[in-house]
Amino acid sequence: MAQALLITIKKLLMTLQINSLEDYQKAYQSSVENPSEFWDNIAENFLWRKKWTQTLAYDWSVPETKWFLEGKLNITENCLDRHLASKGDQTAIIWEPNDPNDAAQHITYRQLHSKVCAFANVLKNNKVVKGDRVCIYMPMVAELSVAVLACARIGAIHSVVFAGFSSRALAARINDAECKVLLTADGGFRGDKVTPLKDIADEALKTCPSIKKSIVFQRTKQTIAWTSDRDLWWHEELTKVDDSCPAEVMDSEDILFILYTSGSTGKPKGMVHTCGGYMLYAAYSFLNVFQYKPNDIYWCTADIGWITGHSYIVYGPLATGATTVMFEGVPSYPDYGRFWEVCEKHKVTQFYTAPTAIRALAKHPLSFVTDHDLSSLRILGTVGEPINEEAWHWYDDNIGKNKCPIVDTWWQTETGGMMISSLAGVTQDKPTFATLPLPGIQPVLLDADGAEITDIKAEGILAIKQPWPSLARTIYGDNERYKNVYFSAYPNYYFPGDGALRDALGNYRITGRVDDVVIVSGHNLGTAPIENAINEHDNIVESAVVGFPHDIKGNALYAYVITYDGVIQTDELITEIRNLVAKTIGAIAKPDKVQFVKGLPKTRSGKIMRRILRKIASGNAGDLGDTSTLLNPEIIDDLQKGFDKN
Ligand code: WTA
Repeated sequence: MAQALLITIKKLLMTLQINSLEDYQKAYQSSVENPSEFWDNIAENFLWRKKWTQTLAYDWSVPETKWFLEGKLNITENCLDRHLASKGDQTAIIWEPNDPNDAAQHITYRQLHSKVCAFANVLKNNKVVKGDRVCIYMPMVAELSVAVLACARIGAIHSVVFAGFSSRALAARINDAECKVLLTADGGFRGDKVTPLKDIADEALKTCPSIKKSIVFQRTKQTIAWTSDRDLWWHEELTKVDDSCPAEVMDSEDILFILYTSGSTGKPKGMVHTCGGYMLYAAYSFLNVFQYKPNDIYWCTADIGWITGHSYIVYGPLATGATTVMFEGVPSYPDYGRFWEVCEKHKVTQFYTAPTAIRALAKHPLSFVTDHDLSSLRILGTVGEPINEEAWHWYDDNIGKNKCPIVDTWWQTETGGMMISSLAGVTQDKPTFATLPLPGIQPVLLDADGAEITDIKAEGILAIKQPWPSLARTIYGDNERYKNVYFSAYPNYYFPGDGALRDALGNYRITGRVDDVVIVSGHNLGTAPIENAINEHDNIVESAVVGFPHDIKGNALYAYVITYDGVIQTDELITEIRNLVAKTIGAIAKPDKVQFVKGLPKTRSGKIMRRILRKIASGNAGDLGDTSTLLNPEIIDDLQKGFDKN
């Protein structure tokens, strides 16, 4: 048994990793010409309880996609059990606390296995069974990873909600998925702030009848309220269980998790990811993009509340037996050198972060970087938004010292894994370009009529032609919306909502969203829910929110607001509006600028012309384009005057 497992691990690195440009071209070619054989060969490298009978079945007109049909597995056996024989004593997770004076934790694969099994038993004791939804609202403590894996161990569906979301946003997500149990903490440390997570969760649970138990991890030791027939201490529950827990056998297409992302309408979309395909693609893309080698120390700075944390802190690295760093804090605490201090301390080899963090750090004296020895770094990565040329070069010059390839990875919550990216040191990177698709991924550019643009050098709407294993299968409880958002505008393609251009060598550069989603500091925010929040204010008739370019955040939000007659438009009202958004959604969604207006530019059919609002908010009113379909062209003058004053 041990020998068989050892061979599997070795084979994983040897057979799955692409090591040269030629190998990449070959792999890409075969993935297009013979996708079933291509993915079968990859799937063979994982631990299945029962082999699949068919690789792929899909019909994008339904839409429905299935991978590795009738295959049975448990992702935690792939992430934990199968590493025990060969690397049980290797560190799986290095947890770095918010306060650099506190000790880091080094959790081996054996220890992680034991913690996950024990907590899985806690869930079972609390009547959680396969298929139940468990909401996780926790700070970046190691137990967050344990919680995620413990759900997967017993086949419960985890729905992680980012700990920066408000009680209302949390409640909406819990209710949408009808979660049975909430996993939370008393509070969370982030820089010099303490977030009262339990208080926020308590407020949310007032409107969440499906929650039967709330299991609370003690992190900050702050005073909290307690509901005795619902709340349980994490550490007390652990005393009631042992650490032996057989893995639930899951169908390849059983749901592994739900993760909410913003959409163009008010309601968040619960993207559904399934066990087999997601595991495979997270692992395969991780190994190849980051060129992970034994003994590397890989660090992704994302939060597990986002897809990047799911795929590239937890599942991808653990499924390939890597050592993954989890960071509780923020880049600016106790000073702007914290990232680099952590890189030096743990001898990080791969470092993966967001352009917004790079831009924020680049504003501070270089001594915060040069004070630290970054010689362990081999590969750098970015994710979440387009990276501008200046930030790319700052990263390359000062962090990578011009010797680390930079992978600019384009992907989405919906895609489950990285779609377009260079493979570090294997394919060529290019500033501001995500570059080439991974094997198995077939991007195309479409024109406004949905026709494929055949010229290589072109600009258009990005779409994906064939399914890949980690595509989200549906929106939880709403396949119709899934169809409308992703498969209706351009039939027979997956439509991600981004625009792109392609250079003569086939490299892709993502130009930004083509819908009403704005990426602020790497966070996906739909403008509709923000408008709904603003409109709830008693003094507000209507509002429109758009993005405008911002030095550090990439984009910031600009709210145009119409008040009722007679309302005095004060700075206090602006503060109230901003606070209302924070309360309804979370502080990340607060508009940077609020402008009171008399009206909004509308077409004859009553649709707000956001293009005009975006132009004005970015200071480009000189170039408003065609305004002939406007019902109220006179409003533009008023908007512009207000902008000038703002
Ligand atoms: C944007 C994050 C340019 C894009 C993994 C996408 C990017 C949205 C990049 C998904 C990149 C992500 N270059 N834009 N390298 N990566 N995006 O769901 O607009 O939080 O559609 O997933 O972020 O954001 P999400």
